[in-house]
Amino acid sequence: MNLAVLISGGGSNLQAFIDAIARGELDANISLVLSNRAEAYGLQRARQANIDTRCIDHRAYDNRENFDRAMLDALRAYPLDLVLLAGFMRILSPLFVRAYLGRLMNIHPSLLPKYPGLHTHQRALEAADREAGASVHFVTEELDGGPVIVQARTPILETDNADTLAARVLEQEHRIYPLAVRWFCEGRLRLEGGSALLDGKPIRLSAG
Ligand code: GRF
Repeated sequence: MNLAVLISGGGSNLQAFIDAIARGELDANISLVLSNRAEAYGLQRARQANIDTRCIDHRAYDNRENFDRAMLDALRAYPLDLVLLAGFMRILSPLFVRAYLGRLMNIHPSLLPKYPGLHTHQRALEAADREAGASVHFVTEELDGGPVIVQARTPILETDNADTLAARVLEQEHRIYPLAVRWFCEGRLRLEGGSALLDGKPIRLSAG
């Protein structure tokens, strides 16, 4: 399975894929790491692992679709099975989503459907939630709204601030995102009729 990973920043989730592949836990090849920011540290991680990199700066395009077209052009140079958003901080147009529907995943730092969008940890703290977490989901045209594949939870501690909570959730992200990708690579996971199916059955999230 050939993967592309889209990033905007640190790339610790990218690193989790690289490490899972190196450990033999994920039978896949990362063909390309694409960033919209030249200074994204994740690009260095990719180069270190001998992965092709591209930077396409969204500011060079006058609208979202033109930026997305440039990304699609870059991705189409590779025979890709799966495109992974990993801390990629641009909203994708329907044009892009349709091109990879069913082969496009994202990780979001909240227990979706709670807190789509930004500042998820701050919002969870302000709402006095007792737990937080992360969700891997298939990307659809609705922002952070596609069917969830797997979630991880962590309790919110009285001493938490947005940074300490984010750090704990990030550790969980590094566990569940490679797991979801592994399921996909093993042919166990697919998007069908708007649902995520694992081994042919709709994925049900544990309540509470
Ligand atoms: C993660 O928390 C991800 O869920 C969010 O951005 C962060 C990216 O971290 N969307 P990294 O770049 O993978 O280290």
